Amino acid sequence: MAHGNHSTIHNPQLAIELREIPKIELHVHLEGSLTESQLRYLAKKYRTPLWESQTDAVAELYNFQTFPDFLNAYKVCCQHLRTPEDYVQLTGSLLQQLADQHCVYAEILFTPSICSRFGLPAEEVIEAVLQRSIEASRSGPHIRWVFDTVRQWGPDLCWQTLEWAIRYQEKGVAGICIGGDEASEPARRFREVFESAEKAGLHRVAHAGEICDARSVWLAIEELRAERIAHGIRALQDPLLVDYLVGHRLPLDVCITSNFKTGVVERDQPHPIENMARSGIPFTLNSDDPGLFQTSLLQEWERAAEILHWLPEQFVTLTRQTLQYAFLTSEERRQFQNLIR
Ligand code: ADE
Ligand code: ZN
Repeated sequence: MAHGNHSTIHNPQLAIELREIPKIELHVHLEGSLTESQLRYLAKKYRTPLWESQTDAVAELYNFQTFPDFLNAYKVCCQHLRTPEDYVQLTGSLLQQLADQHCVYAEILFTPSICSRFGLPAEEVIEAVLQRSIEASRSGPHIRWVFDTVRQWGPDLCWQTLEWAIRYQEKGVAGICIGGDEASEPARRFREVFESAEKAGLHRVAHAGEICDARSVWLAIEELRAERIAHGIRALQDPLLVDYLVGHRLPLDVCITSNFKTGVVERDQPHPIENMARSGIPFTLNSDDPGLFQTSLLQEWERAAEILHWLPEQFVTLTRQTLQYAFLTSEERRQFQNLIR
């Protein structure tokens, strides 16, 4: 069964075929790509309490079972990124992982307000990571950035994030997103920021329906005019919302491993993607935080293949559809179309 934390694909031939198919990832957080061993390295470099601990504090941190504990682990990871160079190295290794999986295009979420909150020169970090991805795109995947903001930190930092997104739009920033604790601040407090983002030609994503119910997805659509919903696993509770998502071709960024590991889907329950697919809700497959969840886009494909009984050609179709939801111009889309079998 495809429940629980770990899945190994039972059909090795299928695994090989999936690995070779060109991929697109639309929802991967830079900070959440930090692996246990990368965190150990940083903990040692900065002699932090994690390094000084007598127990394997890093393994314990990554063994979260609940959403609040996940958010705490995320925060601790971010507290270990202390220089622009740390961010650049992390960007480089994420880009390499994407390339290794035959990813031709990815939208990476990055939260610059974390830098300013933790005393780093945010603009220096932004410029360094954008430059790193521009260099990589000559030989690796093409990258667009989505600047994420932390809901519980309120609208002021969201305004600041928008300012950065506008300033660096020409350097590969395609949109803004809201994440963090979905239950903390109502969507309406961010309405004006998202409205201004739209006016500036930036795209909009919202984490919604992950820990809160279908109403939160409606608010992301109505208040924030979100073009994609991250997770949205509670959307199925509301038949009118399902109709809306299907009718408007508004996709969910589905992240299966993420949902089990943060406990928002019970480990012994089936993942709602089965019912989403049956209802015709548009969706894409994503790793969310591959370091924290010890996953990859390829592993997400393998899990989906098991749950949905998909064959390789269905993943080619998925990739074509994913391209339609990417924050690209139609000309750029045509170019990527040629790279997808
Ligand atoms: N930031 C990174 N991953 C997240 C998730 N799964 N939910 C909310 N915010 C996040
Ligand atoms: Zn996310």
